Amino acid sequence: MNIDELEEKLKSADQMQILSAYNRADDDTKKELMNQVERIDFSQVADLYETTKHEVNFNNDVIEAIPYIDKDKLSEEEYSKYLKLGEDEIKAGRYSVVTMAGGQGTRLGHTGPKGTFDIGLDSHKSIFEILIDSLKADSEKYGVTIQWYIMTSKENNADTVAFFEKNNYFGYDKNAIMFFEQGKLPMVDEAGKILINEKGIIKEASDGHGGIFESMKKNGVTDDMNKKGIKWAFVGPVDNVLVKMVDPILLGIMIDQNVPAGGKSTVKANPAEKVGVFCKRNGKPGVVEYTEISKEMAERVDENGELVFGESHINCNMFSVKAIEEVANKKLPYHIAHKKASYIDENGNLVVPEKPNAYKFESFIFDAFDMLDDMAILRVKREEEFAPVKNAEGTDSPETARKLYEDYFKK
Ligand code: UD1
Repeated sequence: MNIDELEEKLKSADQMQILSAYNRADDDTKKELMNQVERIDFSQVADLYETTKHEVNFNNDVIEAIPYIDKDKLSEEEYSKYLKLGEDEIKAGRYSVVTMAGGQGTRLGHTGPKGTFDIGLDSHKSIFEILIDSLKADSEKYGVTIQWYIMTSKENNADTVAFFEKNNYFGYDKNAIMFFEQGKLPMVDEAGKILINEKGIIKEASDGHGGIFESMKKNGVTDDMNKKGIKWAFVGPVDNVLVKMVDPILLGIMIDQNVPAGGKSTVKANPAEKVGVFCKRNGKPGVVEYTEISKEMAERVDENGELVFGESHINCNMFSVKAIEEVANKKLPYHIAHKKASYIDENGNLVVPEKPNAYKFESFIFDAFDMLDDMAILRVKREEEFAPVKNAEGTDSPETARKLYEDYFKK
């Protein structure tokens, strides 16, 4: 792309503030900006900005409770059937784990990737090491080295890789770990203009973990899985220190029901808990996110007094590789976050806003569920599988996660 083409592209996208930034920039920054302009799909950004003008509402959707299987209520016979189905796949090397680790530890007051955070165990293990411990145990149990794919982001990829290198991959086989970066999208202001960041280039932010399918395809992860004969992937978060990444029961149920996806739920602690809930939306599996559920819906109870929408989505998902490839070819919807974002204005001055001034666009992994025929939901026990580390203090903090982790391993 030359300067004329750059100008042309920006003019037709009505994003000439980027040209002003270009004209102010030094040679290296100019190059970086040029690459961004070449790569960015401006009409997609314009479409996304349009969506900020309409409110999200589910008025036309039929949202119902979703059927699930309670792990605790399985008969011995059912349990052994599912266990065998799942374990056979794992032992045959057809199972892998993908961790969504694109997030930073900002909310925890930690600088650096969330996975490098120390929750304060006596051993001072980082979250990544806690996850590796469980993978090592499962690899040993099943006699295979379980392949681990770690999704990072532009902000934390280098730091994440350096952390693993420095710690010698915590004794895990280095060749069984592959890092890949998630996608990003420009942030726009309230008039739809793309922001310029402190470095003088376009301000981009992670496009949410829903971008994982496309990123897995683009970065050769699904190819690698196919090459290795992997058929299944558990896709889970980095911020749950009790996450059970290798789960033959959920896999066995998926195989038995012949469905391409599965998800785990716990009983929602209270109507206001900050978790998404599983549902059926227009007959298809889905999740209503905690930021989007109405108070009435969150509080609705059935004849037994139980929450109708009480199956929390704990972000523990399982997919067939085929399903991942299928979703990778489709477009997931984007959710809008109204955020405070500092930027460089037309005159080259830094602006630090006091209230939200910009939009960030993110897709969510669970929006893929309704693109698949059906999925299996397995209700598990919170104290065995859900110890989230989200906030510096209070609920879902290092303190609560540490307690849950220690209690679990004491047992
Ligand atoms: C998330 C779920 C919510 C669920 C809750 C359970 C979303 C949108 N919502 O909420 O339904 O009930 O967890 O704890 O996920 N991540 C990336 N890249 C991104 C964004 C996130 O890798 O672009 C990773 C984070 O590192 C983390 C996980 O995804 O491991 C969850 O992300 P976060 O944004 O913290 O989700 P919550 O708002 O806590």
